[in-house]
Order: sequence, then structure tokens, then C-alpha cells
Amino acid sequence: MAFCCWKWFMHFGSRCSLIRTARSSIRRTPLLGRCGYHRTSGTCFLNPEMRGFLEENTEVSSSGHLTPEIQLRLLTPRCRFWEEKADLWPYGDPFWAIYWPGGQALSRYILDNPDVVRKGSVLDLGSGCGATAIAAVMSGASQVLANDIDPIAGMAMVLNCELNNVTPFPVITKNIIDTELDNWDLIVLGDMFYDDQLANSLHHWLRKCIKTHGTEVLIGDPGRPQFLSHNIQSQLHKVVEYSLPESTRQENNGYSSSTVWRYQP
Ligand SMILES: C[S@@+](CC[C@H](N)C(=O)[O-])C[C@H]1O[C@@H](n2cnc3c(N)ncnc32)[C@H](O)[C@@H]1O
Repeated sequence: MAFCCWKWFMHFGSRCSLIRTARSSIRRTPLLGRCGYHRTSGTCFLNPEMRGFLEENTEVSSSGHLTPEIQLRLLTPRCRFWEEKADLWPYGDPFWAIYWPGGQALSRYILDNPDVVRKGSVLDLGSGCGATAIAAVMSGASQVLANDIDPIAGMAMVLNCELNNVTPFPVITKNIIDTELDNWDLIVLGDMFYDDQLANSLHHWLRKCIKTHGTEVLIGDPGRPQFLSHNIQSQLHKVVEYSLPESTRQENNGYSSSTVWRYQP
């Protein structure tokens, strides 16, 4: 994910030094072994050092978003790196440390409508903090897989599962867009249509997943330009729209609502 995207959609960047000055830092992301990320059967494990770093530099938050029943470790104004120089942040841009409006809407919808996931398999693509995957587990999904290309997101998800007394689900950190997938009952994507190229790739790949496996696809989005102008729009069905809490509005460029869409090509 390029820095310009981060800056572009984070009004919030004007207040948070880390976010404001975050650079294209993929090359700064340490090797998985160095940062304490290990995978056995797809589940992330944290070494004490990495756990300490994440706990020290995030705050447990359950307010200001649409799902107060889910606690999350997020970057808040009380965290050191809110003001600290971004250069001192040793990993890639911490997108996982924000609970984005699209993910909030999806999670709210899943918690309020557990039948959507109950006893089914759910893939949360671009899962970030993991809230939507956690909502799926809480609502009775039989199998949940989170996918995010940022390995630190995988570690944050372990902490967030613990916070919510949810058994950690597998997380895969390779890019699976355009790959052949197993049959998932449902794919959920929160705030993933923020970049034209990514939106195009997702569109083609999701259509293939639906045609091949009959997968259901739900997309959460607050109305980002790349989403509203994309030709996927003609194949979307509005499921529900949520008014966003004030603090989420302030942190997200004034977006006042977030909508869950069903993609039905
Ligand atoms: C805007 S955040 C949304 C996070 C979460 N879904 C939410 O709504 O809070 C986008 C996330 O997608 C991840 N991402 C970007 N490109 C990806 C890709 N090709 N495959 C999987 N994850 C990706 C980023 O690392 C980031 O965590």
C-alpha cells in the first residue's frame, strides 16, 4: 500500500505524527523471524518482545466505533506514536491500528445478523485489526480466515482475539488476490476499495470466486471515491447503512455513514 493512499484517506493524519509522516515503509518491515512472527498451521504467535511493543504502543479501545462489544488495540491520541516522529516507528504503516469505517459497518452487520455467518466459512480479506473476523467468530462462523499482507496486522489480531476471549483464527499474510481459492461461503472486505488498481484486481477476483464457488461477498465502505466511481457499483445491492460515531467521522475525513453492500454480478 503506498504512502499516498494512507495520506490521502487519513484526514486524521493531520493530527497523528506517525500517520501524517508515514512513508512507504514496506522495506523497513522486519523479516518475520526478527519481529517475532511465527506461523504454525497459519496461526500467528507473538514473542514477548513483540507483544510488549504492541501493548506499549496501542491502547485498548471499545468506544468511538460501531461495535463497542469488540475491544481492540488501536493507535489513539494517548499513544506515544500519535505525536512521535514516524521515523521512529520500526515497522510498516500501521493500518491495522485503525478501525476503518468499512470494517466497522461489516462487523456491526455481522453481530446484528449472525445468521449471515453462522456455521459458515468466512474469509476476511484485508482484515487489519481483525474486528470483522472477530465478529464472525462471535456470531458462530464455523471457520474464519483472516488475510492481510502486513505481518504486524497478524500479530495485532492475536492480541485482539485475546482481548475478546476469541480463539485466534488463522491469518495468512501473502497476497491471495488473483490466486485460486478454496470454497468460502462468505468473503468480507472492509475499506478495501481505496485504490483504483486494487479495486480492479478485487473486482475481477471476487467475480471469479462468485462464479466458481457461489461465494457470497459483502463489502463495507463509507463512500470512497474509488469505490463510488468503480464499475462494480452497477452490481452492488445495498444491505444496510450505519451512521458513524462522531469520533470516527472526525478521524475519517468527515464520512458520516458507512454502508454494507452485497456484490452480485
Ligand atoms: C483500510 S485498511 C482496512 C482494514 C480493516 N478491513 C478495517 O476495515 O478496519 C486496509 C487493509 O488491507 C490490507 N491490504 C492492502 N492490500 C492488501 C492485499 N492485496 N491483500 C490483503 N490485504 C491487503 C492493509 O495492510 C490494511 O490492513
